[in-house]
Amino acid sequence: MINHEKYRIAVLGTGHIGKTLARSLASAGHSVKVANSRGPETIAPDVLATGAEAADAASAMQDAQVVILSIPMAKLVDIASLVRKLSWDVIVADTSNYYPHRDDNIDTFSDGQVESLWVAQLLNRPLVKAWNAIGSDSLANKGTTEGAVGRISIPVAGNIEEHKKVVMRLVSETGVDAFDAGTLEESWRQQPGAPCYCTDLTYAEMKSALALTEQSRLPARRDIAVQAIQERMGDKRSNPTADYIVRLHRALFM
Ligand SMILES: NC(=O)c1ccc[n+]([C@@H]2O[C@H](COP(=O)([O-])OP(=O)(O)OC[C@H]3O[C@@H](n4cnc5c(N)ncnc54)[C@H](OP(=O)(O)O)[C@@H]3O)[C@@H](O)[C@H]2O)c1
Repeated sequence: MINHEKYRIAVLGTGHIGKTLARSLASAGHSVKVANSRGPETIAPDVLATGAEAADAASAMQDAQVVILSIPMAKLVDIASLVRKLSWDVIVADTSNYYPHRDDNIDTFSDGQVESLWVAQLLNRPLVKAWNAIGSDSLANKGTTEGAVGRISIPVAGNIEEHKKVVMRLVSETGVDAFDAGTLEESWRQQPGAPCYCTDLTYAEMKSALALTEQSRLPARRDIAVQAIQERMGDKRSNPTADYIVRLHRALFM
């Protein structure tokens, strides 16, 4: 049965990814509140253009049914105490990835800790890992309607099936197919460096991409990609185009 329910959604983070999620989920008819770290008055009008409302993090999450975390991984520590207070029926989705050059070295990842398990432990609750494996330009500009030929697909992992189902439906409303990538324990297959990571695969291509992922090679491949992107973009905080990101990541990760 198709779920047409509209949700109260909080999006924490209004950067490259959070902005697009807020815009598309508000467009889809959900009641969306967004927060950044600097306060509602600093949230740009284009984030709110389709109906999302600016708030601070605590009030955005206050009556949310779904909370989407879209902030750098190392900054999750700053909102952890608020997230830990949420009731267990609130669905928490996390878009974050670990990048040592940005997040400092979180030692546990050198020992092979799965990134989303570290986040779940930090937040002391279940979560769904989603929207982490698509570049911001692809998410903003390459989305299509359900059933469109060549539609991009992204992996979604989580341990509570009901939560994962809701997030998968929201993923589709942001213009891409959701592929059930299993549990959080398996979610290393969608981390930076993996064949499915920011390579804009289709649903039909996703199963073998996940199966072919070699965990030990991910960090080195991730770091080579970062070096190439930094060389191209310099100090700018803007993200490369979808075309460049996908070409680079397909060459390095697949
Ligand atoms: N960029 C991509 O292509 C991409 C793709 C997939 C996944 N991701 C992952 O998704 C996450 C977000 O990436 P991004 O590129 O969107 O980051 P970004 O452009 O740097 O934006 C980060 C956002 O997080 C907010 N933030 C930081 N600390 C916060 C706090 N304590 N409370 C509320 N908001 C806070 C920032 O608000 P202020 O500006 O007010 O500090 C900003 O709006 C990262 O983990 C990233 O690895 C990124």
